[in-house]
Amino acid sequence: MTARSFGPVILVHGGAGKVAPDLVEARRAGVRAAVVNGWQALAAGGSAVEAVEQAVKMLEDDPAFNAGRGACLNRDGEIELDASIMDGRNLAAGAIGAVKRIANPVTLARAVMEAGGSVLLVGEGARQFAAAVGIKECVADALVTERQRARWATLREEDTEGVGTVGAVALDRGGHLAAATSTGGLALKAPGRVGDSALIGCGTYADDQLGAASCTGNGEAIIKLALAKTALEFLQMGEEPMAAARRAVGELTARTGAEAGIILLDRYGRIGIARNTAQMACACIRNDNADPEFFD
Ligand code: GLY
Repeated sequence: MTARSFGPVILVHGGAGKVAPDLVEARRAGVRAAVVNGWQALAAGGSAVEAVEQAVKMLEDDPAFNAGRGACLNRDGEIELDASIMDGRNLAAGAIGAVKRIANPVTLARAVMEAGGSVLLVGEGARQFAAAVGIKECVADALVTERQRARWATLREEDTEGVGTVGAVALDRGGHLAAATSTGGLALKAPGRVGDSALIGCGTYADDQLGAASCTGNGEAIIKLALAKTALEFLQMGEEPMAAARRAVGELTARTGAEAGIILLDRYGRIGIARNTAQMACACIRNDNADPEFFD
């Protein structure tokens, strides 16, 4: 493979894990709509940051995914959301953890990034920051779906996965990379628990010199392996993108036994996808061909 740029490229995921049969088609349709939304930003000359925000925002609005509306509930029956975004041009990054009543956490994470200074805001501080930048709170129930409410009521402690974290990576026409991830986390998680999706280097990473990555799966395991940055370091060691993604998930599996998946782009826009779970809906648009490609 030559080292020329293949941009623009956008790749999105809708979460690793076993998906309920009645959600499979909705997830496919959701990643399709999201990748088209992100692609439209790139095709119009928008930045990779704009593209990943637009893609993830659409998935947050889609109740088929565990992010924004449709997120899973914590032990107290509340939704607490994590998200992060990173700009590979300059390593600018923004993240929010355990926020309530924010419909589009990725947009709040982008606002944190653009404000400069802090990278990660959580809880009440994040709420105050949202108000200061004009991002309005919604009522808590606006994010809760009947499916997640029913699931919370019947879940057992040993069945707490949070399938459906969403994420996107993109390369724009300027050759710049970005990544974003958003989630409701794990079902029945402890109130205040923050997972990998809010942590730069763990759930999300982008560096024009390396690549861009977004993770999904068991947040605690992903944090321990700093999975997004680890996968991109495999690229730096000379691995092809698919091999780097597989090696990262393989290492996580061997070291923790947990479930996870990852999508990544190298700095030329070549894609890598890996999971150790039954499913992970992904869609990609690349090479100026606006027809999405699907990967399950
Ligand atoms: N990967 C999502 C979480 O564990 O919070």
